[in-house]
Amino acid sequence: MSIKPLILLPDPVLRRQSDPIERVDDAVLALADDMLETMYDAPGIGLAAVQVGIPRRLLVVDCSREDEDQAPMVFINPQVVASSDERSTYEEGCLSIPDYYAEVERPMQVTVDYVDRLGKQQQIEADGLLATCLQHEIDHLNGILFIDHISKLKRDMVVKKFTKLAKGRSTAAL
Ligand code: NI
Repeated sequence: MSIKPLILLPDPVLRRQSDPIERVDDAVLALADDMLETMYDAPGIGLAAVQVGIPRRLLVVDCSREDEDQAPMVFINPQVVASSDERSTYEEGCLSIPDYYAEVERPMQVTVDYVDRLGKQQQIEADGLLATCLQHEIDHLNGILFIDHISKLKRDMVVKKFTKLAKGRSTAAL
């Protein structure tokens, strides 16, 4: 297992549509393990493959509380198939947009179809933090970031800030 470098805003790969995974093979499982290690190291509660530069439809999530055991979950080709009318608001962040948080409103419950590590089709009914986390991560697979759900004014400010930071990083690398 290894920790992968995180792709940050405004890298255009974050705006790509991720490709479906045809077969759950050793390479996919190894990538999922690397993503879990990367997520725990960050630390974060969810990570999409595109955030380590691999635009494929794979997510890892762990929404367990600090006082609980780790509960790593792997979702392959996940898809929201139903969502509640009732909505909830969470303050969200993203490992690709470090140290920025904003309130986002989303459906409170979602039903998600996905393929598990064994290649089996599964369905989960999620609510609370897990529902928010799954929607945030599935957005990543479609090139959508949580800042797309906030006001244009706030979004423009964040993108501008991270564009400036990215320029600083490339200069420092010379
Ligand atoms: Ni994110």
